[in-house]
This record gives sequence, structure tokens and C-alpha cells, in this order.
Amino acid sequence: MTYKVGILGLGTVGMGVAKILQDPLGRHPLLPEIEIGRVGVRSLNKQRDVAIAPTVITDDLEAIVNDETVDIVVEVMGGIEPAKSLILKAIGNGKHIVTANKAVIARHGNEIFTAAKQKGVYVMLEAAACGGIPVIQALKQSLGANRISELTGIVNGTTNYILSRMYFEGADFDATLAEAQQLGYAEADPTADVDGYDAADKMAILASLAFGDRVKLEDIYREGIRSITSADIGYAKELGFTIKLLGIAKRAKSKSNNNDSSLEIRVHPTLLPIQHPLANIHGVTNAVRIEGDPIGEVVFSGPGAGSGATASAVVADIINVVAALKSMPNQVNQLMGCSHEHYAKIAPIADTVTQFYARLLTHDKPGVIGDLGTAFGKHSVSLNAILQKTTVHDGLAEIVVVTQRVSECNFQKAIAAIRELPTMHSIPTILRVL
Ligand code: HSE
Repeated sequence: MTYKVGILGLGTVGMGVAKILQDPLGRHPLLPEIEIGRVGVRSLNKQRDVAIAPTVITDDLEAIVNDETVDIVVEVMGGIEPAKSLILKAIGNGKHIVTANKAVIARHGNEIFTAAKQKGVYVMLEAAACGGIPVIQALKQSLGANRISELTGIVNGTTNYILSRMYFEGADFDATLAEAQQLGYAEADPTADVDGYDAADKMAILASLAFGDRVKLEDIYREGIRSITSADIGYAKELGFTIKLLGIAKRAKSKSNNNDSSLEIRVHPTLLPIQHPLANIHGVTNAVRIEGDPIGEVVFSGPGAGSGATASAVVADIINVVAALKSMPNQVNQLMGCSHEHYAKIAPIADTVTQFYARLLTHDKPGVIGDLGTAFGKHSVSLNAILQKTTVHDGLAEIVVVTQRVSECNFQKAIAAIRELPTMHSIPTILRVL
């Protein structure tokens, strides 16, 4: 018996999937039993780097999700609609889903998984977070014995490429972004990547698997990397840090110590000590560090995007579904399902306790450092490091401070007071430190 897949989308990922399915030898022994039944595209006339028989390819995407011969719908078209509606229709028709669509899962996972549970079908999403890195299966299965306390990741390749270039070449953000766009590492509209939306989608998915509760995207605190300058990268280096866009998810420390099970989930540029395992992940590479009991620390790294890497994850999911269908055709394998029913309680960002980095421009007058120290002290913010550079321009001095671990709430109050100091010119950058 062969299993038929209907592929929605024949872009970079769809072509990667088709190529693996057309060339099964030397890979998993189940692959020859998997056949491309239908392929849905937006435009039939586009030249493509993969040979698909004209009888298999169609621009009628609904026909694929309604096709009785299709067992598994592989959604690799991206975007919210029509992808979401097609996934739900396919589930309604009893088809299993393999998707690479983080945006749909992060926003509509609730509806999709509820429908899938009712129908007894699989929704597989290894490719939806960190492309080729097998982190979803690790969270669902291989780390199942662990109580996860923290998941931290470089989950966006575009921003990691930009920040790596800025770190190694001292280049500015705008010039590096423009170059990344020319080289195809950043989209013409880079918003989803550089403003952290893509990373937040992936963190919603990873955190819900790590901590066992659904996560609402809008609860995730998010900041992008546009405010990072070459000056910040230079100071970070001088202080023994690099700067990465990190997704951070962990159990929040309870203020009252009475079983508060809220989570802290945030995406923001972060100063990372140079010896941290994620500090040396450069270029478009992604990495995820998971801390659990009893395993301790595990770090996964690899390609987070691209045709082959993402197709590797998609095809692994197809193989898993086929294996499950062969061995237990009338039951759902619990290790492959999604059992979350409740939403996680997310701690407000004001409750975060972390170190901060701030770069301040002040008038170059006596007493400035004293004023700063007093304002921080008044709000219980202790400083770890302070750097002052000679006048930068127009009689202004640049001062960089790194705090000890303090509450976000106290730090922001101190910063509000500092902005009002007569000696203060501006505060161009505030970042968190891991
Ligand atoms: N735009 C994403 C990134 C790749 O830069 O990581 C797809 O998730």
C-alpha cells in the first residue's frame, strides 16, 4: 500500500519536499511507500526546478483537501489565509496535516488542534519552528521525562545574520540589513524578522510544547533589533558580551512562593556573555538551549530555514505519520498528538528580574555620574559596570551602565527619573542582559 500526500505550495520548501519524495533511495525505508498524489500551486505557468507531472499539479487547492485519495496534506504555502481554512477543511475531511506554517499554528493552533482531536488525525509541525533542527520531536518525545525549566533560543536566522555581521564587521544596522536583503537573507519587507514577530511565533510554539500549556501570541513581550547600533555592539564586546535576538521562556519565579505557575516569555535583543553556548551561533544558524530536570542542559543548533533543511523536517513528519498509520491505523499515537487544553498564565514584563544595559548621552558636566548613581540607588537598582567615553559630539558624553539583576519595574522607574535629570540628553539604547 502507498500513502498519498497532497502538497499545498511549491515554493522553496514545497520543492525541497517533492525532491526528497522523488528520490527516496538511501533514506528512510518507508519513503518508497509515500507518493506525491497532488500538488497545489497558485500559478500553473511558473517555471520550477522540479519535475511534477501535469496531471498531478493543479491550481485548485480546495480539490486537494477534498481529494479522497489524499491521506496527508502537506501545507507549505505560508501565510494565514487560505492556509488556515485549507488545513481546517482537510482535517474536517479526515486528513492528517504536516505543516511548516508557524504563523497559522501560533495564532490558530487552538482551533486546529481541537478539530484534529475530534477527528482523530495528526497535525505535525516540526518545520514550523527552527526549520531543520529536530526540536519539536525532542520536546514532544525525547525529553518527555524532564521537567523543563527554561528554553532559550536564537530562532530567527535573518536577525542572527545581521547581528553577526554587525559584531564581526562593526557595521551599522541599516547598511547590514540592506546587504542582507540584496543577498536574499532578508525579505524586501523585513518587519516580521527584524521586529521579532517571526521569533515570537516560534516561541509561542516551542514554549507551549516545553511547558505543556497553550500560549497566546499577544502575551509574548516582543522587541526587535532596529535600535541596535554599532556603538552598542562595540560596548557589548568591551564588556565581554555579544548581542543576539533571543527568545526566552521560563517558569516565572513566584513572588509569593505559593505555587504560582506562570511563565515568562519574551523576545528581545539580549546581551549574552561571550562564553554562553548561544553566543557563538553565528550567521543564519538557529539554536535552542533547553534546561530540564534531570537532563540539565541540552543545546540544539542547525539550519533554521532553507529548502533542504525545512523539507528535512517536513518529510520526517510525513514518515512519522505513515509509520503511525501502518502500526496503529485506528488509534492516535499520543506521543505525536497535542494534548494541551489550557492557556498558560504569562507573567507581565514588569515582573521580570534581569540585568540591564543602558547607553546614555549626557551633558559633559561635573556631577553627572553622581546624579545617575543617586537615581538608580533611589529605585534599588545596583550597578555592575559603568563606562564613560570622552566627549562624543556637541559637548556630550556617552555613559554605558550594566546593572545587577533588578526588577524591570524598578529599572524603568529609575530610567524615567533619569530622563528628567537636567544633565541628561537622551537614552538611545536600553537592552536586557541574559
Ligand atoms: N524568516 C525566518 C528566519 C525563516 O529568518 O529565521 C523562516 O522561519
